[in-house]
Amino acid sequence: MRTTRKVAVWPVGLVGGRRYERPLVENGKVVGWYTGWRADRPFAIDMAGFAVSLQVILSNPKAVFRRRGSQPGMQESDFLRQITTVEELEPKANNCTQVLVWHTRTEKVNLANEPKYHLDTVNIEV
Ligand SMILES: *[C@@H]1O[C@H](CO)[C@@H](O)[C@H](O)[C@H]1NC(C)=O
Repeated sequence: MRTTRKVAVWPVGLVGGRRYERPLVENGKVVGWYTGWRADRPFAIDMAGFAVSLQVILSNPKAVFRRRGSQPGMQESDFLRQITTVEELEPKANNCTQVLVWHTRTEKVNLANEPKYHLDTVNIEV
């Protein structure tokens, strides 16, 4: 997070009914999303999965993270599309192959969306 220049992204553990979700990275660039739900979202990422430089916030004074008014699961995309592009994202956590952040809740972990096929291409400890 500390080395974020504009907008950085990384995997999040225990989210979306899965062990983890993560940005898919090729040649150091985000090319897609490993997620169990609406992978077609522009930024299919949980709000625990990114950081934004203060300079980017200050340069985009009209950008808002809406608490209400976004469709379900679209809060992050609605915000991030105002300030960056997928091509610009900076992958962290060893090209998004490590889970260093968890979406914890005070309830039993839900893995109902864990895939039985189309498994991820990397093996990640959560
Ligand atoms: C991420 O991938 C790029 C391109 O393959 C590589 O140059 C870079 O060293 C990798 N970064 C890390 C932290 O492994």
